[in-house]
Amino acid sequence: MKEIFSRVSVRRYEDRPVEEEKLERLLRAAMAAPSAGNQQPWEFTVVRERALLDRLAGASPYAKPLLGAPAGIAVLGRAQGLRFPEYAVQDLSACTQNLLLEAEHLGLGAVWMGIAPLAERMRAVAEILGLGAEVWAFALVAVGYPLEKPAPHDRFDESRVQWR
Ligand SMILES: Cc1cc2nc3c(=O)[nH]c(=O)nc-3n(C[C@H](O)[C@H](O)[C@H](O)COP(=O)(O)O)c2cc1C
Repeated sequence: MKEIFSRVSVRRYEDRPVEEEKLERLLRAAMAAPSAGNQQPWEFTVVRERALLDRLAGASPYAKPLLGAPAGIAVLGRAQGLRFPEYAVQDLSACTQNLLLEAEHLGLGAVWMGIAPLAERMRAVAEILGLGAEVWAFALVAVGYPLEKPAPHDRFDESRVQWR
């Protein structure tokens, strides 16, 4: 699949909004991810309000891409009612990667910004978005039309593979 190999983290964006249909496609892709026992432990907050994006950029020292992004998506985990809570992080990772690949497919640029498991960042996102105890902040994704797109690197390293 070509998007797997062409995707890179994009941290600078054109000054134009992302269409709502495209944002919805990203969420559809995220929710198409596999999850343990199909528990789908995800919730999403889509942020387009400038003031909120700017505040979220301060939730982590590495979330500055949100300052110039027209949209951000907070990937949240459900805190209750999961059959296999110990697998929630894998499930949320798979859904976040799906979202990034769909962004690439749609000609958008995106970057995954880590929040969990760092308590300080999780608290900051929860406070800014006014999250209740039923969800926790897993990651932030900045999204926009790429202003510049670094060239992808081939990271295949055969020394990491053992064939048996
Ligand atoms: C769990 C995780 C957390 C990340 N956190 C950040 C972050 O906070 N800020 C950022 O700019 N990039 C972040 N990234 C993006 C990585 O820096 C990036 O994926 C890596 O350098 C490889 O580059 P590529 O995505 O262009 O292939 C994160 C990626 C992952 C998977």
